[in-house]
Amino acid sequence: MTGTGKSALGTYVDEQRRETIADRVEELLSEMTVEEKVGQLNQRSVSFVMGPEDGNEDLEAAIADGEIGSVLNAEGLEAKQHLQEFAVEESRLGIPLLMAFDVIHGYRTVFPTPLGQAATWEPDLAERAERVAATEASADGHHWTFAPMVDVSRDPRWGRVMEGAGESPVLGSAFARARVRGFQGEDLTEADTMLACAKHFAGYGASEAGRDYNTVNVAETALRERHLPPFEAAVEEGVATVMNAFNTIERIPASGNEDLVSGVLKGEWDFAGAMVSDWNSFGEQLPHGVAADEREAAKLAMLAGSDIDMVSEVLLEELPDLVRDGDVPESRLDDAVERVLWVKGLAGLFEDPYRYFEEERRKAVTLTEDHRETAREVAERSFVLLKNEGVLPLTEDTEVGLVGALADSAEDTLGAWAWGGEPEDVTTIRAGLDDHFGDVPYAPGYDLPGEVTAESLDEARDIAEEADVVVAVVGEPADMVGEAASRAHIDLPGDQRRLLEAVHETETPVVALLMNGRPLAVEWLDDHLPAILDVWHPGTEAGPAIARTLTGEVVPSGHLPMSFPYTEGQIPVAHDRLPTGRPAEDSEEDYVSKYLDVPNDPLYAFGHGESYTDFAFTDLTLASDAFPSGKALEATVTIENTGDVAGRDVVQLYVQDLVGSRSRPEKELVAFETVELEPDETAEVTVEIDEDDLAFWTDDEKWAAEPGEFDLMVGHAADDIVHTERFTLVE
Ligand code: BGC
Repeated sequence: MTGTGKSALGTYVDEQRRETIADRVEELLSEMTVEEKVGQLNQRSVSFVMGPEDGNEDLEAAIADGEIGSVLNAEGLEAKQHLQEFAVEESRLGIPLLMAFDVIHGYRTVFPTPLGQAATWEPDLAERAERVAATEASADGHHWTFAPMVDVSRDPRWGRVMEGAGESPVLGSAFARARVRGFQGEDLTEADTMLACAKHFAGYGASEAGRDYNTVNVAETALRERHLPPFEAAVEEGVATVMNAFNTIERIPASGNEDLVSGVLKGEWDFAGAMVSDWNSFGEQLPHGVAADEREAAKLAMLAGSDIDMVSEVLLEELPDLVRDGDVPESRLDDAVERVLWVKGLAGLFEDPYRYFEEERRKAVTLTEDHRETAREVAERSFVLLKNEGVLPLTEDTEVGLVGALADSAEDTLGAWAWGGEPEDVTTIRAGLDDHFGDVPYAPGYDLPGEVTAESLDEARDIAEEADVVVAVVGEPADMVGEAASRAHIDLPGDQRRLLEAVHETETPVVALLMNGRPLAVEWLDDHLPAILDVWHPGTEAGPAIARTLTGEVVPSGHLPMSFPYTEGQIPVAHDRLPTGRPAEDSEEDYVSKYLDVPNDPLYAFGHGESYTDFAFTDLTLASDAFPSGKALEATVTIENTGDVAGRDVVQLYVQDLVGSRSRPEKELVAFETVELEPDETAEVTVEIDEDDLAFWTDDEKWAAEPGEFDLMVGHAADDIVHTERFTLVE
């Protein structure tokens, strides 16, 4: 295997298997023609149910000729079996195909979107969710998922924030690790595991102005400190593959970016797996204006260190000649092929290419009660109570009225990137409330995405007038989030707000349930409504999870993984901003860094999340106020549940390096831990802060923590710090 240092890929197989795979890879490589090698790097998208369909007429022949190494989007076990038979029985060397699919938040059992999962602040839950996803997807014949997406972003205009873990590289790295473990299990030879893929390498979350596929312009410091850490975490965790991003870094498209791929990923981090392009991203080097033709695009991608070509076919067409002409060394081709074959070996395909195709297993493990229960639990823990003026929880005898078309839309409840899910499996919010409260009076109020009429508003008003409490479901339909779904306005779509105004006018208390894939600008809701619960796109078990939360059977415990701005004009807004030379502590003053029309802080800060109970951080103590270099510092927080019901909270620790050789953030998340407490119960949470946790990318182009003073803060959210202790890092 090429490089095993820091990369933990090798931990997914034992020594003996490593040797078996190595022997097989070596043997195959020695027998392959240049064309056959290039074929292994070629990935085709297929939509192949039982026979060749549009555009796939030549598929069988291409597989038999060894021109395809992997496919994505194959559907159905029989079709996959059929394709695999072609590869194994008809191609000269019989190398099995890898079958890939975007398994982003569950497969048939759909979980909350990844951003919602990050709102749990419990990476273990995401690991469990991915275990379920891998079990179902692998039983449907998929070997490889294009997940986790680990792009850090602080721009809610960008529709893809729903696929990631939000704005913090620390939270993002914890979720990246958990998801890789969840997909890949402990032993990749087990049939219920999948190869994972950390994407999109790198900087995609910084797409300018939040417009998808746009230019990225990040300084080396931001790239290193903000965007790369979750990728490094995934590599350390042994992720089998990494995907190139669409964007440029230093004006060089990521797919052809040698510094990034060969320099950082395969060099500094010693990544041993395979690098796959994003959809046509090798080919898109032409419109980016760095390649004159496909030959140059293929050459740039290969020389950068990228390995697999998703759909552009520039390698298939151009690489054999590039190698023959000496423009791409054959050793580079061999390295790429070796990585692909290794990944196939890790997936156990050399022993049994058909091991993922068992109809009995598929039936037995799909959408089980157990999986549904896990999906419900994760959904419940993902909900963030943004505001509650005592309306929630509802009592059992509350007369509830329900409005909002999203409450009754199974498809939108699944959210974007849920291709394995089926709307008929979903318990919608409406169905969940009906099950709980009996038939709940309901009016859609708007047509999706947000069209209202005088009649639709009247209907909703009637519902509100008859009810004790009206639950209004508003937000984004699934097609308004995800890829190619940037929004310049991040408020409620269309006229949905008019529905809220209409029901609010009746003076019946309104509980807003927000369904969203991104932070939304909801100042009006905050000003006028007594309760707002963010439920993201909650997936298959939305109904029961929401009914149980509204009634207090479940106490909300989610916290925002991303700041919610007042308005788009504040973007980018994140907790770890740098201080300015003109701080706006006194907003009355002129010539300080502030807006004339909105505060600097977001409406709801990173880490914010209310509960039906209260938590107090009664103490923060440090084991020492001097922290000798190379050692760890213990910080202990005492937390008490001072309310009346049991609940969960997150101990959030933030740090500030007071004076550095470069300006450091006013505060940045450094550690977190969730605790569950009965009323009046107290717990001590001890967290170790390492020197690495204080490090940043210095002028010497390396990570280092500089001696000096630091503040350690504990808070309920980034804007709600309750204790600060100072310590010194001693040289
Ligand atoms: C997306 C990737 C995805 C790929 C395959 C691309 O358009 O950017 O995230 O994995 O398609 O579906």
